[in-house]
Formats: sequence, C-alpha cells, structure tokens
Amino acid sequence: MSLRAATASASILVAALFAMPFARSQSIEYRPDAKLWVIQAGDFTYAMGVDERNWLQSLYWGPRIDRAEDIAAAHSLPEVVSFDLPTTTTPQEYAAWGAGLYTEPDLKATFSSGNRDVVLAYVDQHQTHDANSQTLDITMRDIKLPLVVHLFYRVYTGQSVLERWTTIENQTKEAVVLENAASATWSLPNLQNSNYRAHWLTGRWAGEWQLQSAPLNVGSQVIESRRGSTGHQANPWFAIEGPDSTDEEHGPVYFGELGWSGSWRITIEQSSFHQVRITGGYNPFDFGYRLAPGESLTTPPFYGGFTGGGMGEASRILHHFQQGVILPGAPHPKLRPILYNSWEATEFNVGESGQFALAEKAAALGVERFVIDDGWFGQRKDDHAGLGDWYVNKEKFPNGLKPVIDRVHQLGMDFGIWVEPEMVNPDSDLYRKHPAWAMNFPGRPRTEGRNQLLLNFARPDVMEYTYHWLDELVSNNDIDFLKWDYNRNWSEPGWDAVPVADQKKIYVAYIHNLYTILDRLRAKHPKLEIESCSGGGGRVDLGILRHTVEVWPSDNTDALDRLSLQDGFSHAYTPGVMMAWVTDPQRTRKTSLKFRFLVAMEGSLGIGANLNNFTPEDMATAKDLVAFYKTIRPTVQQGLQYRLIAPSRPGAPSERAATEYVSTDRTQAVVFAYLHSQNFGDPYPLVRLSGLDSKATYRLHPLDAKQLLSQQEASGSYWMSHGLQLDLRGDYDSTAVVLERTH
Ligand code: GLA
Repeated sequence: MSLRAATASASILVAALFAMPFARSQSIEYRPDAKLWVIQAGDFTYAMGVDERNWLQSLYWGPRIDRAEDIAAAHSLPEVVSFDLPTTTTPQEYAAWGAGLYTEPDLKATFSSGNRDVVLAYVDQHQTHDANSQTLDITMRDIKLPLVVHLFYRVYTGQSVLERWTTIENQTKEAVVLENAASATWSLPNLQNSNYRAHWLTGRWAGEWQLQSAPLNVGSQVIESRRGSTGHQANPWFAIEGPDSTDEEHGPVYFGELGWSGSWRITIEQSSFHQVRITGGYNPFDFGYRLAPGESLTTPPFYGGFTGGGMGEASRILHHFQQGVILPGAPHPKLRPILYNSWEATEFNVGESGQFALAEKAAALGVERFVIDDGWFGQRKDDHAGLGDWYVNKEKFPNGLKPVIDRVHQLGMDFGIWVEPEMVNPDSDLYRKHPAWAMNFPGRPRTEGRNQLLLNFARPDVMEYTYHWLDELVSNNDIDFLKWDYNRNWSEPGWDAVPVADQKKIYVAYIHNLYTILDRLRAKHPKLEIESCSGGGGRVDLGILRHTVEVWPSDNTDALDRLSLQDGFSHAYTPGVMMAWVTDPQRTRKTSLKFRFLVAMEGSLGIGANLNNFTPEDMATAKDLVAFYKTIRPTVQQGLQYRLIAPSRPGAPSERAATEYVSTDRTQAVVFAYLHSQNFGDPYPLVRLSGLDSKATYRLHPLDAKQLLSQQEASGSYWMSHGLQLDLRGDYDSTAVVLERTH
C-alpha cells in the first residue's frame, strides 16, 4: 500500500442536507487491510476490492449494508475451464481487452508498436472532498506499459446516486489509439436464474419516450446512438428490476444514466454464468481516439443507483439528483416561467404585428415569457434557406427585434428566441462563404436532412464564430431565453482540418465545444436561460442538462399522446425540466382546453396554441388555468412525483391515467386524473394517494367541485389507504385536485 493510500483511508461522513426519505448519509471508506472500498450512497451500498492478481473487482451493489466491515475482501477466481478464463469470469470494475477477455470491454487500445493487449492492475488510491461531495480516484495501470487509468467515484450530500467516470492517460512514449473507452461497468449481484427485468426508453421523432420492458436473458442487449447526438431512438437511461418481484412503489431497482450528448452506448450483458454487467459510455462504433504521449481522455459520467422502493422511487431519486446536482442553479434551480411560443400558430410566418397581437393575448393570460420561434432571420421563408445567416430578416421585422422585445417587456413578460446554431442551409451566405465548415468527407456528397448540413463544431474556428454571433445577438438585444434547436443527425462525419489519425476525435471534440459555447454564453449573460430542443426530444441527457435549464421533450403535442410520452420521460428526468405546451387540438382528436391544460401542467407549462382563434370563453378558461398552475408550480416542478395510474405504455393500453405531486415538505399535493374513454358506464376507480404525511390532515381543493365525490377533509392515511373518489365520465375527461395540509 502506498503512503498516499494510507493517509487517505479515513472515511468522511457527509450529513444529509435535504430531508428526502431516501437520502441517508454518504461516505467513501477505504479499508487498507482488506484493500477494499465501501461507498455509502444514501440508500444503497457499493463496494469493490483488489484481489491477489491486483485486479479491481466489483464486490457489492444493492441495499444499504451499514456494517461495512462485514464486506469481505476480493479473491482471485481460479480458472474453471479454458474456454472462460478468469479475465472473463471475474466481475472486473473496469475490464480492459487483453489476457483473454470475452465479455464487453471497458477499454480497448492499439499501441503504435502493434501491441493490442492491456491488463489493468491496481496502483493506489486518493480521496478528495468539498462541501457537497466526496470523490475517490483509484489508479490502475497496464501491467507492462504506463497506460494509466483513473477510475473516479463521487457521492453527493443528500443524494442516493453514485457518479462514476474514467480518465485514461497515455504516459508511454508512443501514440495509443483508444477504440473503446467506457465510463464504467456496473455489475448486478450474481443470482443464478434470477428474475431481472430491464426497462429502457425508445422512440422516434414525435414519438419519443416509449417505455420498453423485457426479462433479461443470457446475451447482450444494446441501447445506443450512432448519430453524433443523444437521439430520439433511445435514451441513455436504464432500470433493472429484480431479482424479487417489484411494482411501481415496491421492490429492488438498479438504475443508471449517462451524462453525454454525443454518440453513446449502454450494453446490458448477461454471461453464460448469469453475471449481469451494464457497460456504458462513448459509443465504440467508428470510435478511435488517438492519445499522443502525455495526452489523456476523460469519459462522460455514468450515474447509478439502487432502491428498494420500486420504479417510482428510482425516478424520484433521479429527479432529486437532477434538481440538487445537475441543473444550472442546482441545488436551487429556478422555477420555470410560463411560456408562450408561436411556432404552431404561425410556423415560419413571423412578423412584427402578428407577434404583437399574440404577445398581448399571452400576457392577458398570465404568461411570463414570450418566445419567437423559427423564421425571424436570414432569408428564412421555409426550411430551405437561411440557417447560418443569423441577422434579422428585414421584411419580417423592418425595425429589428427591439420593438417586439420592448413590447413584450412592457407587457410584463421576458423575451426568448429560437436558434439552431449547429446547422447551415446550403442556401445561405455562411455556406457560400465557408463550405469547408460543414461536416463532410472531401470529394464525397453531403447528405442533407431537412435541407440542412451540420457545422463541424469540433473546429475551433467554427466554435469561435458561433460563440461570437450568439454573444452579439444576446448582447445587442434584451434576450432572456434561447430555444436551442438541432434538427438532424450526423452524416459524413469528416474533419479534414486535422491529421487523419485525429479525425475521429470529432465525436468527442464536437460535444465539448458545444458545452463550452453554452457555458461561455451563460457566464457572460448570467440571466440567460437555454432550452435544449432537437426536433422535440432528440437531445435530452444529463450532459446537456448541466448546461441548459429545460428541454423540449417532443414535437408531438397531442394531449393524449403526451400522457404516454410524459410518463416515459418521467422515468429518467424531472418534470421540472419538461417543457409542455397547450396547443390547438391535434389531428382528428378533439380534447377540451381543460384536458390539454392539465396534461401540460404536469411539467413546465407553456402555451403554443393560436391565441387569435381563442373565444372569450377560451381566454377566460385559459386565464384561470394559468392562475391555478401558479399555485402548484413548485410542487409539480420540484416536488416528489408518484405515478398512480399509468397511461398507455407499449404493450399495455390504459383507459386512465393519474399522477400525484407532493411538495418536499409534504404540505401540498396535487393529483391529475384523466379518462380516455369510459366503457359500460364504469365509475372511475378510487385513486389511492402516496407520499403524504399519514398523521396530518389534508383538505381537498378540487379544480371542479362536481368531479369530486369524496369528503373535503381527512388524514393523509385515509387518502393513501382509502383513496379519492372522482367522477370522470365519457371521453377525454380530466380533473385536478389540490390537497393542502391543515394540521
Ligand atoms: C423543431 C422544433 C419545433 C420548432 C421547429 C422550427 O422541429 O422541435 O418546436 O422549433 O423545429 O423549425
């Protein structure tokens, strides 16, 4: 043991700041005698240790074990059969490809000398802490060459989440190409014939957040994006229930999510020996990161947790973590203002007088932020031209943006605007001037999507140019909010301005430069807030959420579809970042304004309907509902969410849905309930609540008294055990009930 390791062996107990039910204390303890670490991360314990071969093994991940000394040291596994060497059967914390590894590697490297074998052995450990977190750095090194790997583990005060990431340092004298560089591997307890069940999120444009679920079997399941960005098709989140049976509020759930907005991969692999390992990080597809001597690569964070409280508690832990650690402004991110956006009302047809009229109506409803969407710049009449030319279109806004912004401010709202900085239309001045800035392989065709190409953000000149025009836009106009859009995925990801050997670094450099621009803008303009949008929910992850305060989850604003989308979204992300608009009825479905409002109130409320078509009654209804939302906003956005009745999920249609939000001090709760269509006149079932203080008394304040059949006051225990009796009828009925604690 090194001196450094010995001095760092004391554990530091961090008291919980937030009174969350799952947030027991956090600590990282090193036991030098047994060469093992026990991490207490709120409600769960995680342990790993060094075996006789000096390999680092996963020892434990599961319910909290308070007596850390019970966890035994790691021991090397013998060879059982020559076809599955110990490299493969040992639950390695971070497995390098070498010495006969056949499971998913975390690390795979090719040295200039031709060597492709890497075996990592433990060197030493180091711990640091600050006011809110404690970090462990375990140093590993190849057994022959100074290729050094730091495995990081961090716990946060008051949180039940463990953050893991890795830095790979090339201390050799030759270049090394990393073909695989995962953030971390998580090993589940090896329970033969276990009953594990995986959940993950899939989707497509206008159909994101589909909650999939299937039993885990021997073999691999891969969720990933090879698109250069997070993608609509899968989201970097997983949850695994089991081995015992679970439901929404009970039973063991292992879960995790990546903090990365580029191509990513999560592999859930069950070996023939029933060992389940979840490996995630950069997508190794088309990956090849060359480290010159002295250079290093840091992976994205891979956050993980465990709860015995079912899928509902797993989500609440993640929501609390995002609010407390991830979001700009954490641990006290600002509440989201109520927003109006004219996109669905006007599309590209924006102009001064039209926006004035909408702004006046929006302000009359109690809206707090007014946003001009696509169409205000360059020669943008439709989606064929203009991206790249970020000057105000003089035909649409002859006096610039100032008169609109001034009017919006006079009306008491702040002002936001749509941008899509990573894109360029070939029909633009920017592309005509700088064709080399578009991502391409020289001499090859450039594939367009929505008539646009990607700017190569990996290029420092593109990054500087983009930062400067955005800074100018925000400096010259009083802009509080940017809706930052991104409407296609990568093709031809070339970067010919750097040597061939470095061109694949585009997958990493692009995303870092994107984050850098966002951070520089926010640093220079402290009041500026940014939303991440990618044709809806194509870029939602814990990487972008460190730099943006909210996300647009889907271009599908049909209220019934939204119930399902929002349900899927809530498994991985807090409702506090989920922008949700009330729009005009979509397709052929005619839902009431109230139904559409209540669905949108389950996140960060916005309005995208054409207010010019609102009748005076619609305006009055909308005004009341906006006022109602303001009374429950902190509870919805930053409270505890309980999914009481699930809406339709893939393979599980549902005629009803109900969700409850409880303020963190449990003085207020709000229940939203929906009926898709009533069959045989069946009454609405009792809705049993959760998360209340059972001994306290709560008084009900229904949005519509006619829809509440229960008495108005009772104990928390009554509402949780007996339930609420609501009267919902017919098709697309809906209601909301607020509970206020009286004593
Ligand atoms: C994307 C966004 C929409 C809208 C349009 C504008 O599709 O998701 O909300 O901003 O672009 O072109």
